[in-house]
Amino acid sequence: MVEFEIKYSQTLAAQGITTPEQVRSLFAQATADFDAQISIDAVELLWEDLHQRWLGRKSGWLTKISDNWLKPASQELKRTVGQELNRLKAHVESGLEARHAAIESGPEPTVAAKDRIDLSLPGVIRPIGTHHLVRTVIQEIEDIFVSIGFSIVEGPEIETPYYNFEALNIPEHHPVREDMDTFYLDLPKGAPGPLLLRTHTSPVQIHTMEKRQPPVRVIVPGKVYRRDNPDATHSFMFHQIEGLAVDTDITFCDFTGTIEYFVKQFFGESVKTRFRPSYFPFTEPSVEFDVSCIFCGGSGAAASGGTCGKCKGAGWIELFGAGMVDPAVYGFVNYDASKVSGFAFGMGMDRLAMLKYGIDDLQVFFQSDVRFLRQFP
Ligand code: DAH
Repeated sequence: MVEFEIKYSQTLAAQGITTPEQVRSLFAQATADFDAQISIDAVELLWEDLHQRWLGRKSGWLTKISDNWLKPASQELKRTVGQELNRLKAHVESGLEARHAAIESGPEPTVAAKDRIDLSLPGVIRPIGTHHLVRTVIQEIEDIFVSIGFSIVEGPEIETPYYNFEALNIPEHHPVREDMDTFYLDLPKGAPGPLLLRTHTSPVQIHTMEKRQPPVRVIVPGKVYRRDNPDATHSFMFHQIEGLAVDTDITFCDFTGTIEYFVKQFFGESVKTRFRPSYFPFTEPSVEFDVSCIFCGGSGAAASGGTCGKCKGAGWIELFGAGMVDPAVYGFVNYDASKVSGFAFGMGMDRLAMLKYGIDDLQVFFQSDVRFLRQFP
């Protein structure tokens, strides 16, 4: 196009054009030049430029053709040049007009309007979900214990009776096995030994002590299983967190101090605590640990009058079992019972979550009902 532009400023004689055929060929090239330009310049602003370039009164190319090709043309060529110029002018005018009309009626959409992206619209907000309340409570408990030097370990949910019972000082015919009736796996004939779903997280005490020498300070969150029928406080699967601290100089005071610290961190400074004597085969002495009722503040009376439904008027709520590790247990893990001492505890995390967040039905934790889950974002 640029090379061709030069020709509009040169006379025919200067271009060596002497025959009508050459004139027609030159105009054919000029026509093609225009066609090429109009097919590229599609936008309105450029249409103005194009119009000016070809039809501009003073220095438009058609004026130049008229001045440089037509006016100085020889007699023989003048007729042909005049005819060709008129044809080209009509072609340019109608071409520019058609393009103008097309622009007026809106730009040719290159992307269908429906497919166009409106960047000013708000984005699609996808809910990313949150932790389940049980998970949140596990996290809260872990944070408290980690802050005082405990580390977190986990263990298998499928156990041998040895880890779940015997090594915890619960021999085969011990009556507490009654309370922990569980699910045994259906194993193929000839498979070694029975396997069961662990009834508590306590077997991980044994796994940990088998692997590590004192000092040991661990907590063990996890799922446990019992053959219980589901109701507001029972489920065949629930969550426990086990704690174990063993060292050369751990006393009952370390034990009570640690437990009280945890409970006050978890429920708040104002709760009162108490220990009651209890029995577990793997601790001696054993305790049951209570807190003052979170719902009635320990008074035993409901705000609406009458007795508090949560603690049944007792003012205390039983939280979990604990104790000093029974020396018999050290025998199973080759610790020297004359040199080490320690404490252990095992809490139901679902129960702690229910107490802290005022939930009165354990089953809601396992029903995946979003109306419940959304209340704990
Ligand atoms: N394993 C016991 C249970 O599931 C809870 C427990 C009690 C764990 C006392 C302990 C403990 O570590 O010292 O009922």
